[in-house]
Amino acid sequence: MKKADWNLWIRSKYTGRKRKDGIDMEETIFRQELQKRTTAIEDLLKQYLPEEEGYQKTVIEAMNYSLMAGGKRLRPMLMQETYRMLGGEDDIIEPFMAAIEMIHTYSLVHDDLPAMDNDEYRRGRKTTWSVYGDGMGVLAGDGLLNYAFETAFRAFPAYAVGKLVDENYPRVAAALNILARKAGIYGMIGGQNADIEAEEQTTPLTTEQILFIHANKTAALIQSAMTIGATLAGATDEEIAALELCAYNVGIAFQIQDDILDVIGDSRELGKATGSDAQNHKQTYVTLHGLEESGREVERLTGEAVAVLDGFSGEHEFLKELLLHLVHRTK
Ligand code: IPE
Ligand code: IPE
Ligand code: MG
Ligand code: MG
Ligand code: MG
Repeated sequence: MKKADWNLWIRSKYTGRKRKDGIDMEETIFRQELQKRTTAIEDLLKQYLPEEEGYQKTVIEAMNYSLMAGGKRLRPMLMQETYRMLGGEDDIIEPFMAAIEMIHTYSLVHDDLPAMDNDEYRRGRKTTWSVYGDGMGVLAGDGLLNYAFETAFRAFPAYAVGKLVDENYPRVAAALNILARKAGIYGMIGGQNADIEAEEQTTPLTTEQILFIHANKTAALIQSAMTIGATLAGATDEEIAALELCAYNVGIAFQIQDDILDVIGDSRELGKATGSDAQNHKQTYVTLHGLEESGREVERLTGEAVAVLDGFSGEHEFLKELLLHLVHRTK
């Protein structure tokens, strides 16, 4: 079913209705749609996996092990939905969807290393370093980061070779620039830097510090996902700026919820250990403001994000539902 049809169908047939077992129909249909999109992204990722062969076989195995371990696939999903909302229909988005998931996965592989958060479970499996060793864990992360760019470069359309001008060229170049910038020292790596340093701090983190950490270690890749989607669809500078703000709110909310789940989540459902932050003496939004206020902040930020989305006339029903779903996510 096309998204627009799905929207109409839901609204006309199921608003407010419950199934016999009391489960909300809208929620059921959203979950089916979410599952469909997640599976489609998994299939796409498989197409881009490097072959496990040659003398570099082990590092490639370790890369694929972490990449295909599961995960919500949130960043490629946000990228694709934003692209579609702005009218994008081409498959040029696909290498970028794979690339952002590779970068995100690399950030997790390194984040779990003994020298960082020292975690042994991720996405329902043993972490990459605990299966392949620390050295391979470092290399698998490096490999994923580099391979993300090798993959994204494939968006330069082969069919345009020999043509002087192709409207996709400048868009792909701009998207690569976003991908690089938001993953680096002015994005995710910068946030991880502040996160590690904050472990040593004995005084409470300031609001500015915690927001810097969340904005960079987490929101930056979410901004990358949404603004790349918009850029490839040919959005205006104003539209891209609005989506950057939307994604900032989504990202901060997402990290606060991650911090909440580290305290009250179920490790089996999350696929990673809870209590990791406490063990690493990490100050989080929750340690600073408590569970209740943190939960309210997740809701408030999501409301802000949804308000930005609603300023767009393109179809974004699923995207909006997705953001609302993240407020009460349990994994
Ligand atoms: C975990 O990200 C790291 C954070 C930025 C909080 P996700 O919660 O998106 O992890 P996966 O991709 O579903 O495993
Ligand atoms: C990690 O934040 C953000 C990254 C850049 C990987 P966390 O350290 O809180 O993520 P989890 O809880 O291990 O997934
Ligand atoms: Mg961490
Ligand atoms: Mg961690
Ligand atoms: Mg966490």
